[in-house]
Amino acid sequence: MARDGSRDGCWSSGRRNRCLRRGAGQQRVAMAGDILKQEGLSAVVVGNGSIGLALAANLLQRENLNSLVILNRNGDVPFSDPRVANVKFDAEAPESIAAAAKVVRSSVDRVHLMINTVGMLHNQQQQPEKRLSRVSPENLQRSFAVNTMLLPVLVQEFSSLLRHLDSALFVSLSARVGSIEDNRLGGWYSYRASKAAHNMLLRTIAQEWRLSHRNAAIVAMHPGTVASRLSEPFISSGYQHTVHTPSECADHLAAVFSTLTSESSGSFLDWRGQPVPW
Ligand SMILES: NC(=O)c1ccc[n+]([C@@H]2O[C@H](COP(=O)([O-])OP(=O)(O)OC[C@H]3O[C@@H](n4cnc5c(N)ncnc54)[C@H](OP(=O)(O)O)[C@@H]3O)[C@@H](O)[C@H]2O)c1
Repeated sequence: MARDGSRDGCWSSGRRNRCLRRGAGQQRVAMAGDILKQEGLSAVVVGNGSIGLALAANLLQRENLNSLVILNRNGDVPFSDPRVANVKFDAEAPESIAAAAKVVRSSVDRVHLMINTVGMLHNQQQQPEKRLSRVSPENLQRSFAVNTMLLPVLVQEFSSLLRHLDSALFVSLSARVGSIEDNRLGGWYSYRASKAAHNMLLRTIAQEWRLSHRNAAIVAMHPGTVASRLSEPFISSGYQHTVHTPSECADHLAAVFSTLTSESSGSFLDWRGQPVPW
């Protein structure tokens, strides 16, 4: 596929010219305004962990929300709201993501807000490594599959649903410990490395989207320290830092979503909307 060099962000691929222009009055515009106030808001939350479900609950309070798809692997979605659809997938099975996107495409023609809340720090097979001697190819591979590789596959599969005449926002939850510059403590090799690689992929997608998805922004966010299954083993009773509830976290993240525009695309922000060093 060759880029045709036009300023309108058109891409030509042999016989098809996938130009962003749709004629006078229908040109895709840069993402602007509060995405959460979008009329007929169509949202996808990826993951049904603590933060994913809290964000879903937050979105469901909004009257302008038209549809909410929750992609998850265990089917546990505690909402009976008719606007909610529950679609299964496994981050480690790319074909299941393609199948999930197909299901979503059959029910909505566009997505305005997509939030990836999937992440893995520990599970039955692995714990975050305190020392290099604990690092194994298996741990690295599993962490990268969930924390890193899911992002580009999601963007590939949902690309057409995010490319339309309205604004669109894709937020993917990262972690401050994925910051290379901010790494002063060491440890947690697989998690740190997989989140750092996630951030590089996101930043690279943002560059491509400047041409292909001029209506959209893609942003990495650190949600803060939040009480969840992921953080629970590391938050002892003497924990020195603030721990937010999932509901507080959803409020913080939503407040930041409301401020994001095309200019924000490719940034790494914390829950207050402050830039996190890469
Ligand atoms: N909590 C914090 O303090 C904190 C801090 C910094 C960053 N974060 C980031 O915030 C995001 C949300 O974390 P959380 O605190 O809400 O953790 P959580 O409650 O453990 O949620 C993690 C979610 O990821 C899903 N997941 C893991 N592996 C999967 C796979 N192979 N396929 C499909 N889904 C999978 C889990 O599904 P299952 O239930 O099926 O396992 C769960 O829905 C993560 O990206 C995390 O790295 C959290």
